[in-house]
Amino acid sequence: MKIVIVIPTYNEADNIGRLADVLQQEFLKRSQHDFHILVVEGNSPDGTAEVVREKMKNNPNIHLLMEKVKAGLGAAYVYGFKEAMNELKADVIVEMDADFQHDPKDVVRIVDEIDNGYDYVIGSRFTKGGSIPDEWAFKRKFFSVGGNIFSKIVLGIFDVNDFTSGFKASRVKGFVDKLPLEAILSQGFAYKIDLLFKMHRLGAKIKEVPIKFGLRDRGDSKMEKNNLRDSLRVVVTLRYNENKNFVRFLVVGGIGFIVDAGLFNIFRISVLSSRDSAVASGFVAMIVTFLLNNYWSFGERKIDGVQKKVLGFILYIVSSFIPIAVRSRLVGFSVSTFGDTALVSNTAFLIGIIFGLIWNFTVYSKIIWKVNKR
Ligand code: GDD
Ligand code: MN
Repeated sequence: MKIVIVIPTYNEADNIGRLADVLQQEFLKRSQHDFHILVVEGNSPDGTAEVVREKMKNNPNIHLLMEKVKAGLGAAYVYGFKEAMNELKADVIVEMDADFQHDPKDVVRIVDEIDNGYDYVIGSRFTKGGSIPDEWAFKRKFFSVGGNIFSKIVLGIFDVNDFTSGFKASRVKGFVDKLPLEAILSQGFAYKIDLLFKMHRLGAKIKEVPIKFGLRDRGDSKMEKNNLRDSLRVVVTLRYNENKNFVRFLVVGGIGFIVDAGLFNIFRISVLSSRDSAVASGFVAMIVTFLLNNYWSFGERKIDGVQKKVLGFILYIVSSFIPIAVRSRLVGFSVSTFGDTALVSNTAFLIGIIFGLIWNFTVYSKIIWKVNKR
């Protein structure tokens, strides 16, 4: 396999040359693979690029990508990923820091898990055997640990413990090549959370390998001051995007409910029996919600074309009629058993609606407006 270690650098002149030397020695341990180093240089003023160019003279597997300006870690990686995929034809991409906080000896351990069939291997500080530096101030430890727990709960990914690790390997085919790199949610450090979430959604087999995150060898950290807020924004955005359809579905459901319950009671008091009212009001609400769902809740998956629209609507009527029929029978049974009062009929009506809510969301999202998998 062709394995490209992408290393972004900003003012790492003191580290990058030594790191490249150690990595070259490590690569010899897995001679079946073709290892390359791709440095993505953020136009450092300290001569980092010169150090890399010097190394390239005797090392054909070292490559340098120059950014015009330092644009953040996420931007640097997107640039590096594209180069690794399109130009270097990488099968596996490894993300790694230049400052020895990631032990170069761990590269082979991480790559071995790709060989074992995993698609996304995370060098994890928060799994058994992993660690963060004791020397870190309480504040950094707190945010690091807390941020990961928060991400885990909000994103609902419970088999991952380190969401922001900068040391990992990803399989290209079917995974990195499917990531929407243009639409990355952060140009900064928080891009990690975005890509991890999307790899998980792509169905990557994920493995955490414990790592001891060391102290920076030389130079200073480049983590942005707004990293915490940016990470929070990425986590919340990911969650909202996932649930947008459901939130909108609930709003449409609310409108449908008002129409439905309003008409139910109007019909019931005026011309129809309770049982028939539950059918009539349901029918009107059904048409209203179909239109709202199609043009709004599931708008991105909107049904186009007359034929499909008619077919979709028929399917919608058939499926929506099941909870309406259930409800009408429930109302009919309740009023004949407990008396035809507003309380009895409306209680039965409500229970029917809850059943309908679950039924409808499942059918709509899984069948009628399902995402077309090509
Ligand atoms: N090209 C480029 N552009 N490189 C950058 C930039 C940038 O804007 N910002 C940072 N880098 C490079 C650094 O030179 C280093 O090689 C690597 O990216 C990581 O930067 P550090 O400054 O060493 O980050 P850190 O040690 O504070 O953060 C590490 O731990 C975080 C979790 O605690 C990194 O591994 C992060 O990825 C990780 O999220
Ligand atoms: Mn670092």
